[in-house]
Amino acid sequence: MRIVQSPPSSRSNERGTLTKESKPKFTHFASKAVHSGTNHVGDAVNTPIFQSSTYKLTDERYAGWAAGAHHALLYTRITSVNAEAVIDKICALEGAEDGEVFSSGMAAISSTLMAILSTGDHVVASADVYGGTYGLMTEEFPRFGIEVTMADMTDVSSYEAAIQENTKVLYIETLTNPVLKVCDVEAMATLAKKHGLVCIIDNTFASPWACNPLSLGADLVIHSTTKYLGGHSDIIGGAVVGSKEHIENIFHRKVHFGGSADPNSCFLLERGMRTLHVRMPQICDNAAELAKRLDAHPMIERVNHPSLSSHPQYAVAQRIMPRGTGMIGFVVKGGDDAALSFMRGLEMIYEATSLGGVESLVECPFNSSHMMIPEDVRHAAGMVPGYVRMSIGIEDIEDLWADIERGFASV
Ligand SMILES: Cc1ncc(COP(=O)(O)O)c(C=O)c1O
Repeated sequence: MRIVQSPPSSRSNERGTLTKESKPKFTHFASKAVHSGTNHVGDAVNTPIFQSSTYKLTDERYAGWAAGAHHALLYTRITSVNAEAVIDKICALEGAEDGEVFSSGMAAISSTLMAILSTGDHVVASADVYGGTYGLMTEEFPRFGIEVTMADMTDVSSYEAAIQENTKVLYIETLTNPVLKVCDVEAMATLAKKHGLVCIIDNTFASPWACNPLSLGADLVIHSTTKYLGGHSDIIGGAVVGSKEHIENIFHRKVHFGGSADPNSCFLLERGMRTLHVRMPQICDNAAELAKRLDAHPMIERVNHPSLSSHPQYAVAQRIMPRGTGMIGFVVKGGDDAALSFMRGLEMIYEATSLGGVESLVECPFNSSHMMIPEDVRHAAGMVPGYVRMSIGIEDIEDLWADIERGFASV
């Protein structure tokens, strides 16, 4: 466990200084989710909110600063008691050496990519990455002279064919958003190693409960902690984990670009992560059952969920993330108008963008999360007219199904 910079006298905590006690090593996911990283300030059972923008400079803190400031409690843009707690917990859940947390998933993605890429470099990604990531790569990167080639995440040979002499990064997502294609992370990581590239994966849609990409060979794992990790639709946050060397580099970009996470949202994130392993089984069971029922519904053209044997990458999903995901995609017969009518007939499932919370949400990507992606690119990526994305929560399955039937009745 990392010891956050604190005065030597900190074990007598009358002054509210940090007392991060040494803990037994937790070997199982559930115990890591509950206990890893907790900062027992003032002997608190949970990490209290440490709402301070700065810290009194002691000899030890000056030494931490001189040593590069990484993980040193100096100033909250650098880190905070609450940020350190969540970094430790995410590292424990992903099996990572080190990590950084950010003010949003996009801050994590942009800081990570900008830490590794410079003018003249090239990235291989896929057109069906998260819309914000697509925007970053297609609208911002060209301004900095960074090239991107969009290949097919489900076809390793298409990524290999796109590799150039100046390629630095292979960028993938465990499951694509919103069409839920499954990436063969192991094969992509092997390809990256073969060509000396950095394999970066956005694991938001799977969560560390369903998949640990570092164990499959990926170099850096990113999360929008806004989603499953936070789990309650009450924060915006991001994280990246990987080797100490990569994270040290990313840390400096975080400090320069300034997308640091604030203590309050870290507190909520830590609390959310403590129940990840309890929420995810219910979420994934609900989603698999709904996928089955939707698949048999006459008003549905197609269902995308990795638990269905009809999913094109079913075998890959069973290998890399057999526990599934709470995300479902499906095509309502009748196109976008029918999909909108369906959505607007729902009462319990809220029409809202985002995902991964305890409550179910629904959206049509064409007029929300993927609105900025050109129509032809959207269609080619599988977001055909009538496409609906649902994030399934922990409600009762029969109430969810009754709501979905209400939606169909209004088409
Ligand atoms: C897969 C994925 N990655 C990254 C992001 C960006 O995260 P944030 O909204 O926290 O910046 C999102 C947001 O929806 C997402 O779905």
